Amino acid sequence: MNFLKWLIPSRNDRELKKLWPFVRRINEFEAGLQKLSDDELRQKTADWKARLSQIQDKAELARALDEILPEAFAAVKNACRRLNDRKTEIIVREHPMLWEMIPFDVQLIGGYGLHSGRIAEMATGEGKTLVATLPIYLNALTGRGVHLVTVNDYLAARDSEWMGAIYKFLGLTVGCILHDQPPRVRREQYNCDITYGTNAEFGFDYLRDNGMAARKEEQVQRGHYFAIVDEVDSILIDEARTPLIISGPSVHTYDEQYAQWKPLVESLVRAQEHLCARFLSEAEALIKKLNPADGSNPQNPEALEHEIGLLLFRVKIGQPKSEGLMKILEDPENLKLMNRAELDLHKDQKKVDLYREKEELLFAIDEKSFEADLTEKGRNFVSPKDPEAFVLPELTTVLHEIDTGPEPDARKRMEAKTKVQQDFETKAQKIHAISQLLKAYSLYQLDVEYVIQENKVIIVDQHTGRLMPGRRWSDGLHQAVEAKEGVEIEHETQTLATITIQNYFRLYQKLAGMTGTAETEASEFFDIYKLGVLVIPTNEPCIRKDANDAVYKTRREKFITVLNEIKQIHAQGRPILVGTISVEVSEQLSRMLKREGIIHSVLNAKYHQQEAEIITRAGQRGAVTIATNMAGRGTDIKLGPGVAELGGLHVMGTERHEARRIDRQLRGRCARQGDPGSSHFFISLEDDLMRLFGSDRIVKMMERMGLEEGQELTHPWLNRSIQQAQKRVEQHNFQIRKRTLEFDDVMNKQREVIYGFRNEIIHGEDVRDRLMDIMEEVVVDKVAQFTNAESEFSEWKARPLADWVNLNFPIGLPEAEILKAADSGKEHPVPGSLFDGLSPAQFAVASFISESVRKAYDIKISFENPDALKEVERFTILSAIDRLWQEHLYEMDSLRYSINLRSYGQRDPLIEYKAEAFKIFDELMINVKTEICHNIFRSASSMLAFENFLKNVPQQTLHQATSAFGGTSTASSGGAQSKASDVVSEAAAAVAEKAKPVRTGPKVGRNDPCPCGSGKKYKHCCGR
Ligand SMILES: Nc1ncnc2c1ncn2[C@@H]1O[C@H](COP(=O)(O)OP(=O)(O)OP(=O)(O)O)[C@@H](O)[C@H]1O
Ligand SMILES: [Mg+2]
Repeated sequence: MNFLKWLIPSRNDRELKKLWPFVRRINEFEAGLQKLSDDELRQKTADWKARLSQIQDKAELARALDEILPEAFAAVKNACRRLNDRKTEIIVREHPMLWEMIPFDVQLIGGYGLHSGRIAEMATGEGKTLVATLPIYLNALTGRGVHLVTVNDYLAARDSEWMGAIYKFLGLTVGCILHDQPPRVRREQYNCDITYGTNAEFGFDYLRDNGMAARKEEQVQRGHYFAIVDEVDSILIDEARTPLIISGPSVHTYDEQYAQWKPLVESLVRAQEHLCARFLSEAEALIKKLNPADGSNPQNPEALEHEIGLLLFRVKIGQPKSEGLMKILEDPENLKLMNRAELDLHKDQKKVDLYREKEELLFAIDEKSFEADLTEKGRNFVSPKDPEAFVLPELTTVLHEIDTGPEPDARKRMEAKTKVQQDFETKAQKIHAISQLLKAYSLYQLDVEYVIQENKVIIVDQHTGRLMPGRRWSDGLHQAVEAKEGVEIEHETQTLATITIQNYFRLYQKLAGMTGTAETEASEFFDIYKLGVLVIPTNEPCIRKDANDAVYKTRREKFITVLNEIKQIHAQGRPILVGTISVEVSEQLSRMLKREGIIHSVLNAKYHQQEAEIITRAGQRGAVTIATNMAGRGTDIKLGPGVAELGGLHVMGTERHEARRIDRQLRGRCARQGDPGSSHFFISLEDDLMRLFGSDRIVKMMERMGLEEGQELTHPWLNRSIQQAQKRVEQHNFQIRKRTLEFDDVMNKQREVIYGFRNEIIHGEDVRDRLMDIMEEVVVDKVAQFTNAESEFSEWKARPLADWVNLNFPIGLPEAEILKAADSGKEHPVPGSLFDGLSPAQFAVASFISESVRKAYDIKISFENPDALKEVERFTILSAIDRLWQEHLYEMDSLRYSINLRSYGQRDPLIEYKAEAFKIFDELMINVKTEICHNIFRSASSMLAFENFLKNVPQQTLHQATSAFGGTSTASSGGAQSKASDVVSEAAAAVAEKAKPVRTGPKVGRNDPCPCGSGKKYKHCCGR
């Protein structure tokens, strides 16, 4: 033992010392409670609950809880005593068991630590399951729901049943969330005073409640008051590396395009290869000329060099992975020529020469900007009859021509514009697919960037060489590679809702955790979660014998020794638990044991319940159990009869894990509750940890000492060096997690805004006011966008504004009315009002429009069933939020991806990410509101209501508005008739179902051409 540590009490010791008086008071109370009858004891719960549930103020509530803490903890302890004394049998996971626990004093301290919002570090087997019941009971008295978070469903069920005995005895209800429960059952579980469940279930419920539920009856959770996280390091650190994601099919895919264009792209790529081979041989010939074999001087060397450089550059952008090119570039002279040529081409501002060089090819690839373009030659190649099929038209110009053209009929103008836009979209998709395929063929190589396994394209991490199953390249690239390899093209999925574990747990007003191993990660817990760590001493002193680490040169020798030790200890009859860091190693070891004829069990964290049962037997005489780290965590290993006399359970580690706490967990599986036990770790210099992070000092020293094959090295100094290596890895991983979190914080703020908005709509009594506000906001925004505060109103673009209004609202506004309203405008808007910033003329126009819309809406109201309309309004808002938010998540994903690509510049990607994310979120909010406006008149509770309404908007109005409303002539030409009948049958169903909104008219996608006819994509125009 460290002498100084023993002499000077640590902060932790001082902290603990302060808590002993609490323990005394609890025990005094408990002695008093022993005299009460069961009912009198239960009455305490009722009284406390009645009082505490009245308190609203957070600080006051906290004070009240602290006040009753000693007596409430005593009530729990006393309930345990009653269960114990009566030899109560309870059923846990279908097995009957006797209640035999009364909290020890150290457990009371642990309970206090949890209540005070800290992490209680208590060694494995110290009874943390029981410890948690103390603060759970106390805090559940507030009536706000306490959550106990476990690492798997099995433990959630086990602990809720096991500890449920106490809660029920004291008169509280307890529930448990399991994976396959339907929402109704979940809601019941959450409505209990106490709810057990895994982090994933809690997190997904949160996402479903806030990101997906359409009405409050569909929500299952009831707030986030207090959570205690069991195995807190595993959940808040290990699991926190991957966020919780709910995904669904993406709307962005044109999967069939990839297969369709594959043959064409293949022939294109082949033709380009021929072309590049020609350039290369030309270059080689010139290189010979530049260096004549007879040693003479070449003629005009500059021109030659330039020509060679250009030829090589062409190949670089035509076939970047060309082996021939790589070979030629091995000569640094040639590389220099190529780079110089490239530099020259880029010097010219207009890039005329660069363009000319590209035109020598069929397509050009830019590795840096990650683009692939067809050249004119290429377009002629793929479509000799109509090369224009692969050129995007200058849309704005074309549309402007239509706008200002001779066609007087607004409807015909609109139709012409829609047609142009549709062609544009189709072309754009085609070009995109071809460009992704070109990249797949030119930049992505099998067995380098990706491998094929089980008919799937799996990405290879370029830094570590590790496979990344489940990950996909975005934006259709993955599909393109799948098409190239002829494997099944999977649908692109898209994130519908996501949250990191960190951010989910930050939702709780109060958070606490418990584990056997928190100390080594204390700074991370504090940094990220503001959780302090309180180390609680064991109830009985721990008598485990930890041997020094044994270090070998090779893995082979290491495993031979491991096997020998297993044989030797097994022969004594002592049970053995062997930990491995991966499934592969555990299987390898299992094969070795089989060969030796040693009976054993293997666990690898897949079948929790089964494993828990195997692990409970791991302490029996002669048992040999191989387990990966997580396997069976949280289940108790009880020693069989006679095992303690033999020395208890022996734990062996076959490798050091990246994090020290994982090793400590393994060690802690033995010598529980004062049992005897021992542990021994085995290491080789070939282990990943030693290879990647072992300091050179260890290796050098071992070499100096002349470590021979088969020789073992042990020394306390070595243990420390290895721990140093582990610390470095821990630091490194912490930095990575922190970085991930910094990125997620951006999303988190956005999620809070959106979920707040949704909840306001879901829980709000009257959504209509909000709806009208939104309409007004958008109108103001559009007036400001289409008109101009400074210039004369005659210059205003009254026509586009009128078109926009008429497309969205059935008020049939003629341009002349806008000008008239503008003319009448004399007043300035009230400062700070919604209209603030508009000129008097703009103000007048905006007020006029929003007044007209309100009037039209009043007419609509008069034809609707009021309750049904309320639902329709809610639905209109929610569906706009959800659709666009999901689109937004998709964009954020791509942004994250592209920012990483950009990160080689000098700029900090996080700052760039924040700035861009802010911009697109701003866009999102405006888009949502605009879409809501677009849909309020298009949704009705029944077709009848909708038709009646249309009949009753004033005649002149209707005429102007037909292109956007009603079935006879919808904006999208073709298909309009069938659409109308769809709507009617949909309406029939809707009437039957009541209050399910009907949507009429086409829905506009973000990437669709904007219906206002500006010619831009919807998201860049009215959808902005
Ligand atoms: N006060 C007590 N009196 C008697 N036995 C107890 C007491 N507290 C806990 N135990 C026993 O200790 C064993 C371990 O308990 P538990 O599984 O809760 O430990 P743990 O700290 O959660 O361990 P792990 O870190 O492995 O999850 C159980 O068999 C339990 O019955
Ligand atoms: Mg436990």
